[in-house]
Amino acid sequence: MKIVLAYSGGLDTSIIIPWLKENYDCEVICVAADVGQGEELKPLNEKAIKSGASKIFIEDLKNEFVSDFVFPTLKAGAIYENKYLLGTSMARYPIAKRLVEIAKREKADAICHGATGKGNDQVRFELTIKAWAPELKIIAPWRIWNIKSRDEAIDYAEKHGIPVPVTKSRPYSMDRNLWHLSHEGGNLEDAWNEPKDDLLLICSTLEKASNKAEYVEIDFEKGIPVALNGKKMNGVEIITSLNEIGAKHGIGVTDMVENRLVGMKSRGVYETPGGTILYEAHKELESLTLDRATSHYKDMLAIKFSELVYDGCWYTPLREALSAFVDETQKTVTGTVRLKLYKGNCKPAGVKSPYSLYDMEIATFGKDAVYNQKDAEGFINLFGLPLKVRAMKLKDKK
Ligand code: ARG
Ligand code: SIN
Repeated sequence: MKIVLAYSGGLDTSIIIPWLKENYDCEVICVAADVGQGEELKPLNEKAIKSGASKIFIEDLKNEFVSDFVFPTLKAGAIYENKYLLGTSMARYPIAKRLVEIAKREKADAICHGATGKGNDQVRFELTIKAWAPELKIIAPWRIWNIKSRDEAIDYAEKHGIPVPVTKSRPYSMDRNLWHLSHEGGNLEDAWNEPKDDLLLICSTLEKASNKAEYVEIDFEKGIPVALNGKKMNGVEIITSLNEIGAKHGIGVTDMVENRLVGMKSRGVYETPGGTILYEAHKELESLTLDRATSHYKDMLAIKFSELVYDGCWYTPLREALSAFVDETQKTVTGTVRLKLYKGNCKPAGVKSPYSLYDMEIATFGKDAVYNQKDAEGFINLFGLPLKVRAMKLKDKK
């Protein structure tokens, strides 16, 4: 039997290798995905082989992650439960898809992942695998084995000659990529605990954030960011630069209790500096370029879009249909947004677009030639007719 394993080099996915070999009499092929977690992945080569894998593929998925998942979600304005910019959720799709591609190429029988049986990630991995390779078996050791804690995992590693990381690991469950860093578990599990100052690994705390405000200017073409401060850059470069700038100003730290798909509530802290700036900028540009009806309708669909991304449903007909709608709306979302960053705030400081629907001549509080204020009276008479009639009819019945 041949099994393709989603491998990170951490303790959990390392012990999965001997566990699979013991329980399935198999060959294990590791796949380590670079989604911009900022770690050097080359050392994983040796580590995977030492842990018993027959080979390892290290895959750079950063560009695909951004262009196929992050930007479509940004264009949709999708934010889960009004707070979470979906960093982990989105990254699971390109990883799972690449696992499938490699499993097919290697003629593997199964794909294995290290997500627990209590979380969302297992759903995202497995729905994507089912969508692309319904014939592949899926193995989720956390739902099978008896290892319950980090200590037990270390014991297992030591017994099987797996190198255990010597660095004292943080008590949090973290997931990092180009878009964000998530923290769950540890003392965050009590929602009454304020996050400790040393929790944040990317962003400055508000106290340590720069004392000097800074402006950024972002150009969009059809809803996609294409330049930063006048310089053309690709998506990965724009996010990388904005992460640095946003982090300095303590932007994009979100603390929330969210509803997991599997039923429980969980508390998490997210650091998404660049992403937060891009969402703010995109929203500003849409305020200029989308008409009212489309904009309001899009806001409603954004909630659904966020649920689909969160729930593992990227490769579904509904998500594809919603993306088609979103792309139609983005045809004129082209222009430039200027934002002011200061102590955790990201405020609009100017917006312009060749497709702007905003007309100073019409909006002005001064004298204008287009808008006839007399028209408003008839408009209000008809607009208010149903409630006026109702009030007259029910006058004596309350
Ligand atoms: N709660 C977030 C989500 O469901 C973050 C999950 C973090 N995953 C992890 N393996 N640490 O998308
Ligand atoms: C996990 O359970 O593996 C991480 C958290 C989640 O997937 O929601």
